[in-house]
Amino acid sequence: MSKRVTDYDTYNYDYSQYWKNREYENNAEHIVLKSFLKNQQGNWFIDIGGSYGRLTDTYANKFKNCVIIDYSLKTLKRNYPTVKSLSPNITLIAANAYKIPFRDNTFDGGLMVRVLHHIKRQKEYFSELSRVLKDDSIYIQEFANKIHLKARIRAILKMDRTLFNREPYQQPTINLEGAKHSGVSFLNYHPQYIINIIEKCGFDIEERQGCSYLRIPILKKILGTKIITGMEKILQKLFSNSNLPPSIFLKTELEKERKDSKEYNSLEEILLCPNCKGEMSFGENIAICNNCHKEYIKDGNIWDFRVD
Ligand SMILES: C[S@@+](CC[C@H](N)C(=O)[O-])C[C@H]1O[C@@H](n2cnc3c(N)ncnc32)[C@H](O)[C@@H]1O
Ligand SMILES: [Zn+2]
Repeated sequence: MSKRVTDYDTYNYDYSQYWKNREYENNAEHIVLKSFLKNQQGNWFIDIGGSYGRLTDTYANKFKNCVIIDYSLKTLKRNYPTVKSLSPNITLIAANAYKIPFRDNTFDGGLMVRVLHHIKRQKEYFSELSRVLKDDSIYIQEFANKIHLKARIRAILKMDRTLFNREPYQQPTINLEGAKHSGVSFLNYHPQYIINIIEKCGFDIEERQGCSYLRIPILKKILGTKIITGMEKILQKLFSNSNLPPSIFLKTELEKERKDSKEYNSLEEILLCPNCKGEMSFGENIAICNNCHKEYIKDGNIWDFRVD
């Protein structure tokens, strides 16, 4: 597989292990998503880079048909039984966020959490994403904030003025999720850099929320998850617009010129060849593009539509 995509499968990385002992961070993200998705509903929802389904409980009971796409086929295969048993309306598909195997104007909603640091070509991703989302759809984007409080203190101590430039910052790859291996992209972003790109691609920012204010190991240890989660709730309310926390969530609504959209009821109706966006013919465990003739295999329960 090409090195253009961060491929967890080549490292045999089991991402679910990362979340052992990170209950506070998980709670903090759930608080934001629950608030952003309150009163939302619709037909199709897409979780991009959704991995083992950590966040499915925030959307699966609101949207009729949900899809997780992820580049890690191994993760999807390993977690298929659990995800399906909790939410039978979720389909898992191996696919690349840059080449989404779905029809234009399909999804009423979507999210991406803890994945944008692996996306080196952000404009390309957001324009591909806007293709598959419907006009007026809701999309939630999380990203790692490069100008968070600890980074500012560090920069002042080191007299480093580069922190505030808009360029993405590649974090040193030690002990980070999926990035323990050299060459893995782990980008932190200036909030305005992401806001500029996302708005250019047609997404209007409706709400913004900082998250994980208290990602400080000693505090977690002393106070315990319950207290620190309570404090997080208060901090999220007080400083929703600040650039201080390490993670920022944007709730957006897509405005599109092409407003035509149909209602689709089955997976086969929404799938398109990710390579050329041609129509496909389906066999039991194989899909063939009628246009470029590329073949895609269903590996156990998971379609493999990964192309680079
Ligand atoms: C750090 S994990 C986050 C998983 C999940 N969103 C969560 O927050 O629990 C990043 C995930 O993004 C996936 N990923 C990275 N690059 C991708 C790409 N180009 N297309 C699809 N998935 C990608 C990885 O395989 C991995 O499962
Ligand atoms: Zn094709």
